[in-house]
Amino acid sequence: ENRPLWGGRFGSTPAEAFERINASIPFDVRLAPFDIEGSIAHATMLGECGIVSGEEADRLVRGLREVLREVEAGEFGWTLSDEDVHTAVERRLGEHVGAVAAKLHTGRSRNDQVALDLHLFCRDAAGRISAALVEAMDALVEVAEANRTVVLPGYTHLQRAQPLLLAHHLLAHFETLRRDLRRFEAAREAANRSPLGAAALGGTPHPVDPARTAELLGMEPLVNSLDAVSERDFALDLLYACAVLGVHLSRLGEEWVLWTSAEFGFATLADAFSSGSSIMPQKKNPDAYELFRGKAGRLTGNLTSLLVTLKGLPPGYSKDLQEDKEPVFDSVDAVLAMLAVFPEMLRSATFHPEPMREGAGGFALATELADFLAKRGVPFREAHHAVGRLVRRCEELGVELEDLLESELAGAHPELSEFPKDLLTPEGSVANKRSLGSTSPESVERQLAAARAFLDTR
Ligand code: ARG
Repeated sequence: ENRPLWGGRFGSTPAEAFERINASIPFDVRLAPFDIEGSIAHATMLGECGIVSGEEADRLVRGLREVLREVEAGEFGWTLSDEDVHTAVERRLGEHVGAVAAKLHTGRSRNDQVALDLHLFCRDAAGRISAALVEAMDALVEVAEANRTVVLPGYTHLQRAQPLLLAHHLLAHFETLRRDLRRFEAAREAANRSPLGAAALGGTPHPVDPARTAELLGMEPLVNSLDAVSERDFALDLLYACAVLGVHLSRLGEEWVLWTSAEFGFATLADAFSSGSSIMPQKKNPDAYELFRGKAGRLTGNLTSLLVTLKGLPPGYSKDLQEDKEPVFDSVDAVLAMLAVFPEMLRSATFHPEPMREGAGGFALATELADFLAKRGVPFREAHHAVGRLVRRCEELGVELEDLLESELAGAHPELSEFPKDLLTPEGSVANKRSLGSTSPESVERQLAAARAFLDTR
């Protein structure tokens, strides 16, 4: 007969439908390595504190290492009657080491145990995502460095606005990801606290040493036992970081969907990072970048999911908290999948400087004329009007600003007779920028150097 851990006070075994809704083992088996890591620390502490004998602690730790080996080899089996990963690991430990396995849970509850497992998972995930983010940032810098002189139109309202250096544009994404990195580092910090010692909710009469267990795990110890088993802020922090990153990657993805369209023609993805159509032989689609857009939805949903799960929960463990894991797993998987594909997809793409440069000329240079007048003491509003009239005139004639004769420029405003025509090129325009953080080549070189220096610290 298969009795649950808590079967002592029950007259019958669980109904099958109850067992199914109650069990978390189908998804929390993923926590097994973390559960075992926590149990090894707990067993070690129990031995050091004399709560179990040194010999018993050794047997527990050796048995747990054997279970870990099985987990890593994919040999670890579970059944629904195990209910959750904690029970499954303890059952398997018993099969290896016998009766002493029953002592492992002394001074501990599944409530502090599951909270610890999720802390360990989130700490590990935040670390892995941070490392992957650094890779993505490195790819952005590398591609920026390789395309120092390429110009493209910058947009506002998705209308051509002013020329930018492509490197400047790519470095904008670098800054975005730098902030994301900070969020993941903070999420890792938040996860780095051990709830062990809280037991069910109020602590334990056993002479445990939670600070020692935390130390063994490289963590800070709990402060308040009730808070330690009730809070999932660290998981929210990670889900928030994932959601914000997801939104950023969706914006970047949308940009590449536009850039690789025939209408823009700014870039082509490598075949290895594109897919085709089952019916239209000519198609080459930017699916991965579309999925960057698409995954922002579930990442946002996962954050919302846990926020709503936690809303209104009284302090202390409630089974609602079992719903915390799947959104976290899903967000971590989605983010890691995107960051795994991004660096090489970016490095292997081809840019098309000619259409980019073309879009960066023409009326995208109009601000240069107005700024020139303003530098000459013409009030900016007046300068703006004069150049606006000039643009309208060009549209009527069907010509570009650079096609206008000096006499026509002077007609719009006398000061324009001295306008240096080389400013009416995308390169002239970007080189003319002076302000901090601008798209001028000097500014972009400074940004590149700072970005490299930052990456060297990681
Ligand atoms: N499977 C549970 C969870 O994921 C573990 C904690 C169970 N604790 C309890 N008191 N039933 O939250």
